[in-house]
Amino acid sequence: MTPKIVRQIAELREEIAAYRRGNPDGQVGFVPTMGYLHEGHASLIRRSAGENGLTVLSIFVNPLQFGPNEDFDRYPKDERRDLAVASSAGANLVFMPSVEEMYPEPMRTKVTVSEVTERLCGASRPGHFDGVATVVSKLFHIVQPDRAYFGLKDAQQVAVIARMTRDLHMPIDIVPCPTVREEDGLALSSRNVYLTPEERKQALVLSQSLAQVPGWIEDGMTEAELAVRIRGRIRSQPLADIDYVEIATYPDLKQPAPDRPLRDSNVPLLVALAVRFGKTRLIDNVLLFPSEVK
Ligand code: PAJ
Repeated sequence: MTPKIVRQIAELREEIAAYRRGNPDGQVGFVPTMGYLHEGHASLIRRSAGENGLTVLSIFVNPLQFGPNEDFDRYPKDERRDLAVASSAGANLVFMPSVEEMYPEPMRTKVTVSEVTERLCGASRPGHFDGVATVVSKLFHIVQPDRAYFGLKDAQQVAVIARMTRDLHMPIDIVPCPTVREEDGLALSSRNVYLTPEERKQALVLSQSLAQVPGWIEDGMTEAELAVRIRGRIRSQPLADIDYVEIATYPDLKQPAPDRPLRDSNVPLLVALAVRFGKTRLIDNVLLFPSEVK
């Protein structure tokens, strides 16, 4: 069935309240996005539709989480295609508010999650996770879902939102979902459309270098050795400009013990990359559990 499009907060609240009145045991699943939907977003919607009676999808390009020189103004949009994807993946309500609806006056409240935002994208995009935590907190208060679905493509975002939800006692299950990739390995991203054909070819180095990580860890590499190896592999592509290559414990995102082989870690490890190709910044990561690297 085609989902209902809702642009006003009050109307969305009414729709969800009506569902809950009619379905006292029904569960509400929520998938927040910035639109230009692809198969990664669709996988979250499908998962939510399979686990909940009502699935709410939000499409909102949140100005608060973009830095001054980032792509807020040119973030890709295609409302018609988004609705087709939302519909075939099983969304029931699509919330598409304007900036004025979400931010009717300047915000005087900010949600800041400390420590887990210190490294990786938190370090390279100052203020980004304040913007994400603040808008997701607003959306959670508007939708009041039972479960919310996030992709591990943005593993640090999952860690930040899970921590915020726990710290603020929000009764919402945060459900992490696997990264969906193109057949050749490139992680799906709304930003992939910015890539020129040559950049698109060279961008494969992200997933290809990450695919080698388990083997390199098995060989006994320390954190510093692994970072050097990955950097070298990425630099083999002339158009790749490394923003960061980082290895962190998950979900705390602390630095692993520097002198110990990573294979001896008893907590999950996140190996995360951000690499620029021309004007396009791509991220990718691999999350490894101790049993997978021993
Ligand atoms: P956006 O980049 O549109 O992503 C929306 C959701 O889709 C996020 O949970 C993201 O991790 C997930 N996603 C993106 N690419 C994916 C892929 N290849 N495989 C699986 N999941 C993928 O993330 C945001 O929007 C915003 O920060 C938001 C949470 C909506 C707050 O504004």
